[in-house]
Amino acid sequence: KNRSVSNLRAAVICVLGHVDTGKTKILDKLRRTSVQAGEAGGITQQIGATNVPIENIKEQTKIVRGISQTEFRIPGLLIIDTPGHASFSNLRSRGSSLCDMAILVVDIMHGLEEQTIESLNLLKAKKTPFVVALNKIDRLYDWSTMSRKDVRDIISSQGPNTQNEFQTRTKQVILQFAEQGMNAALFYENPDPKTYVSLVPTSAITGEGMGNLLALLVTNCQSMLAKRLMFSEELQATVLEVKAITGLGTTIDCILVNGRLREGDTVVMATSDGGSIVTQIRSLLMPQPMKELRVKNDYIEHKEVVAAQGVKIAAKDLEKVIAGLNILVARSPDEVEICKEEVVKD
Ligand code: GTP
Ligand code: MG
Ligand code: NA
Repeated sequence: KNRSVSNLRAAVICVLGHVDTGKTKILDKLRRTSVQAGEAGGITQQIGATNVPIENIKEQTKIVRGISQTEFRIPGLLIIDTPGHASFSNLRSRGSSLCDMAILVVDIMHGLEEQTIESLNLLKAKKTPFVVALNKIDRLYDWSTMSRKDVRDIISSQGPNTQNEFQTRTKQVILQFAEQGMNAALFYENPDPKTYVSLVPTSAITGEGMGNLLALLVTNCQSMLAKRLMFSEELQATVLEVKAITGLGTTIDCILVNGRLREGDTVVMATSDGGSIVTQIRSLLMPQPMKELRVKNDYIEHKEVVAAQGVKIAAKDLEKVIAGLNILVARSPDEVEICKEEVVKD
């Protein structure tokens, strides 16, 4: 494939936030799926990944004012869903450590909560840029839903009481960010996106604000991360989950952040007994675009997968692989020993 025209890779975006703020629902709205409804107790317990091609983003951002001036240069977004429940801090850490940018989801009715602050600290520690989805605006008093409109126009069309409540709750959230040592502002009032985090009012139920959220992610990625998003052949791939799938045996879900993987590649990974395994990729499986990797569906087999993508790998001997660690590829037999030493280091 010719990558010389635009060799930017998809940006990896991690969705973080307190339990039940609406992370999975936001992705469901974007994908037109209902993954959240299928979760036990409505609680996410695994990391997920969804490839969102730029065509879908263009379609969903049409309602954003001024979008026609935006040139879409990235090929899409790879969005990582994480659990917000207190017990899954390892998964939040895993998700946040491999992303380029994050969406921190805050329930406008609740403000900053315990795992919001935990997530915020993960992002600060890695200096990961992020935007805030100020979600559940449809729950504001007397909210009237207007579909297919820029969220700025939707807010200014609300009655005075609704606008008042929106302003009061937004100010409260901005104050809570200040208490965490961070400047925050509504995205359309942001005086400096480099030092103020942008708040985007959203509803995962009505879809209001979702176009604005996507537009902001794309423009921020293109303006702040263009260098980081240059496609590179240097492999950067992380194991998200190790899981048994009927018919496939033990598989690994992985995030390919950079480089490429091919069927037949010799991969090396660390194992739970302190050693490593060397195995050949039997198949590279990807969900359809706009489908969740963690939900069993009709995977498509690929001979080669180019970053950034979420991909399932089927191979022998994956049972003891440790999630959260890197995958290395040995391109020649003498690289195998070097890779084995490398993976047991961390
Ligand atoms: P965990 O992954 O378990 O941390 O939760 P989550 O952040 O993914 O939240 P989830 O998508 O499971 O949504 C939690 C609940 O909030 C569900 O009942 C959703 O229907 C509801 N919800 C999510 N977004 C909105 C919203 O924008 N408006 C309203 N009214 N309800 C919402
Ligand atoms: Mg969830
Ligand atoms: Na939930």
